[in-house]
Amino acid sequence: LKFVCYSNDGVDEHMVWLIGLKNIFARQLPNMPKEYIVRLVMDRSHKSVMVIRRNHVVGGITYRPYVSQKFGEIAFCAITADEQVKGYGTRLMNHLKQHARDVDGLTHFLTYADNNAVGYFIKQGFTKEIHLEKDRWQGYIKDYDGGILMECKIDPKLPYID
Ligand code: ACO
Repeated sequence: LKFVCYSNDGVDEHMVWLIGLKNIFARQLPNMPKEYIVRLVMDRSHKSVMVIRRNHVVGGITYRPYVSQKFGEIAFCAITADEQVKGYGTRLMNHLKQHARDVDGLTHFLTYADNNAVGYFIKQGFTKEIHLEKDRWQGYIKDYDGGILMECKIDPKLPYID
């Protein structure tokens, strides 16, 4: 099992994984238009942290780092159906936090969580209270009716992965 982070960089292996991830999102997030998923996963300002097992993608998180604002917006998060509830979602989030802090220099994440995923995000340290000053994120992330805005502060020192 490995965790990798790539954006649309034209490398064959990365593209195969990004397309696999796009297909997992399309299946696991049926309310999201498929064209919208493809557009963001393939957009070069988005990055995807992916869980790879035996060279196949089994899940991932696509996010957009706003480096100047020091926060990231999680656009999509999913694990393929037959691999859910095995702890991959938690390990994935820990890899995302470590990467976002150490590579992008981010301090917070924001996401519009689906109602049925609020429990998962709470377990990952997200809250419904937004502490981040509004002028740091307003106008950067798009308003979205279908979910609840949640925030996570990334610990500046904690080792999230071994
Ligand atoms: N509601 C409440 N708790 C949950 C949920 C949920 N939907 N999913 C997992 N959990 C809990 C688990 O029981 C576990 O709790 P524990 O630590 O007390 O045992 C903990 O969260 C972590 O479980 P993992 O096994 O690490 O999570 P998993 O690998 O299943 O990944 C995920 C979680 C990504 C939500 C997965 O279930 C999934 O793909 N669901 C369908 C798609 C989805 O809803 N994605 C989020 C949409 S919102 C967005 O994309 C911005």
